[in-house]
Amino acid sequence: MYDPIFAKSFSKFERKRFGFCAFSISLIVALSIYSTFKPCLHPLSILGDAVNLQLSIDAIEDKLGFNNTAIEKTEVEPIYCILKPMADCCKIEGDVRIRANSSTVFFVTSGINVSAGNNSWRVQPYARKVNLGAMKRVKNWTVTLANNKDDIPMCTKNHSFPAILFSVGGYSGNHFHDFSDLVIPIYSTSLRFKRDVHFLTTDTKPWWVSKFRGLLNKLSRHEIVDIDEGKEVHCYTKVVVGLKFYKELKINPSKSRNNELSMYNFRQFLRQTYSLERGKAIKLKKGEKKKPRLMIISRKKTRLVTNVAEITRLARKLGFEVIVDEANHSTNLSKFAQIVNSCDVLMGVHGAGLTNMVFLPDNAVLIQIIPFGGIDKFARTDFGEPSDGMNLKYLEYKIKITESSLSKRYPLDHPVIKDAISLRIKGWDALNKIYLDQQNVTIDLHRFKGTLATAMEILHH
Ligand SMILES: *[C@@H]1O[C@H](CO)[C@@H](O)[C@H](O)[C@H]1NC(C)=O
Ligand SMILES: *[C@@H]1O[C@H](CO)[C@@H](O)[C@H](O)[C@H]1NC(C)=O
Ligand SMILES: *[C@@H]1O[C@H](CO)[C@@H](O)[C@H](O)[C@H]1NC(C)=O
Ligand SMILES: *[C@@H]1O[C@H](CO)[C@@H](O)[C@H](O)[C@H]1NC(C)=O
Ligand SMILES: *[C@@H]1O[C@H](CO)[C@@H](O)[C@H](O)[C@H]1NC(C)=O
Ligand SMILES: *[C@@H]1O[C@H](CO)[C@@H](O)[C@H](O)[C@H]1NC(C)=O
Ligand SMILES: *[C@@H]1O[C@H](CO)[C@@H](O)[C@H](O)[C@H]1NC(C)=O
Ligand SMILES: *[C@@H]1O[C@H](CO)[C@@H](O)[C@H](O)[C@H]1NC(C)=O
Ligand SMILES: *[C@@H]1O[C@H](CO)[C@@H](O)[C@H](O)[C@H]1NC(C)=O
Repeated sequence: MYDPIFAKSFSKFERKRFGFCAFSISLIVALSIYSTFKPCLHPLSILGDAVNLQLSIDAIEDKLGFNNTAIEKTEVEPIYCILKPMADCCKIEGDVRIRANSSTVFFVTSGINVSAGNNSWRVQPYARKVNLGAMKRVKNWTVTLANNKDDIPMCTKNHSFPAILFSVGGYSGNHFHDFSDLVIPIYSTSLRFKRDVHFLTTDTKPWWVSKFRGLLNKLSRHEIVDIDEGKEVHCYTKVVVGLKFYKELKINPSKSRNNELSMYNFRQFLRQTYSLERGKAIKLKKGEKKKPRLMIISRKKTRLVTNVAEITRLARKLGFEVIVDEANHSTNLSKFAQIVNSCDVLMGVHGAGLTNMVFLPDNAVLIQIIPFGGIDKFARTDFGEPSDGMNLKYLEYKIKITESSLSKRYPLDHPVIKDAISLRIKGWDALNKIYLDQQNVTIDLHRFKGTLATAMEILHH
């Protein structure tokens, strides 16, 4: 079956060359970009010295000739490996054997002379390859062609349905990355198999699997297998190693057959999975007394809003019913999703909690409060741009330095305040510590009133 994400189809010879070249080039580019653009930092990658290169990815892809639109419609090829800057993904059809103890996927073929070139690909099956910090927690897998009897492992388990192998390492556990790097890519990669697919997890975190078990079970009728455990050699006739990735919290609708893949359908899927009742936000009519619900995501450790109580009072005065909440590791996701879905407006300071926008009804409003420190672009990439595909209205409230706790800590002519951009060039740690971890926000109610009024107005249309 033809699948556009694997559109790079090559003649057998070119294909072998491509695997090696693409890998070398992407490694070189990744390394050089890592050093050149280190200041392009990603605020949500909270766990380390992470680098996000998403903004430059389109440019890199063009340079490397990763032109997904250049579709060569040849006959179906048995193996496609597309090694993109953000995510590796190999689709293999035929005699495929997975030997976990060496993290190797064998593609047994007699049609290719395996001694004629490089026949193996190093694949990290997690969709945030450019974050070197995340990838430290993602196992290297090898996809290899094999036609020498001595190299081919014996099957100990045969399966008649396809498998998808992915890593639960990386940044899992951060709500944003759970959805952006895992849930949406898993959905995009597995939907076409109509639940007849085996999920093979590597770098497995059992708590992650249980947190999303309900959702995973809607995508696969089979048991989820921790592939790193046990000594089995699992054999399949169709395997996908890695996940499809498009953009943060986005699905590329043009890459699906029958238009089945879209954020619209993904949100419908979430509504079914978590029994979310509301498809549409409240539609206010003039003179009506109905109150729209506003949820304030209240961060507890960093980037706090210090005057949530005052904002709550203001919002109530403007006619909102207000809920203040934040999910944590022990929150029942289904229950939390239902609370979010009952709201018409979701607001919070830039951070993983805003990912809950996926549960909002259509036409609801997302208000992102952008802290001081020049992270507007990231903020917009993470939540502004995705809101469009989710049928949400997006409002941004960029704080002034007077609303930031940084103004109390540094004199106004200090580089942290005067020169945020050049300070960021010093690297991730400086940005992370100062602008993301050492900044609380006290919202100016006079300024913010306008934003809440706009949200109310949107709900009237
Ligand atoms: C990609 O390839 C298509 C078809 O060959 C071509 O029309 C398009 O201009 C190319 N895009 C880029 C960015 O090179
Ligand atoms: C993996 O298991 C096979 C037997 O199934 C054994 O021959 C091989 O040496 C093992 N490899 C490693 C790296 O342990
Ligand atoms: C496979 O390739 C090697 C190296 O190019 C060559 O020596 C050998 O003859 C080839 N074998 C076949 C069966 O074509
Ligand atoms: C093939 O390329 C990989 C890097 O992608 C390298 O690790 C491996 O040694 C190469 N194998 C051969 C047989 O040259
Ligand atoms: C994966 O391989 C790369 C290149 O060989 C290496 O730098 C990296 O540390 C490996 N990752 C893990 C998790 O072993
Ligand atoms: C799996 O299938 C192969 C080929 O059909 C067969 O040779 C092998 O015995 C089977 N292995 C198991 C464990 O059923
Ligand atoms: C986690 O959030 C729930 C509400 O969703 C709250 O009841 C609980 O106390 C919180 N736990 C921690 C450790 O903050
Ligand atoms: C989580 O919440 C849902 C909906 O409120 C409920 O049906 C389910 O039993 C809860 N799960 C757990 C483990 O408490
Ligand atoms: C932000 O507020 C929290 C809670 O009051 C406090 O623990 C933290 O030290 C504050 N951070 C800054 C940078 O003021």
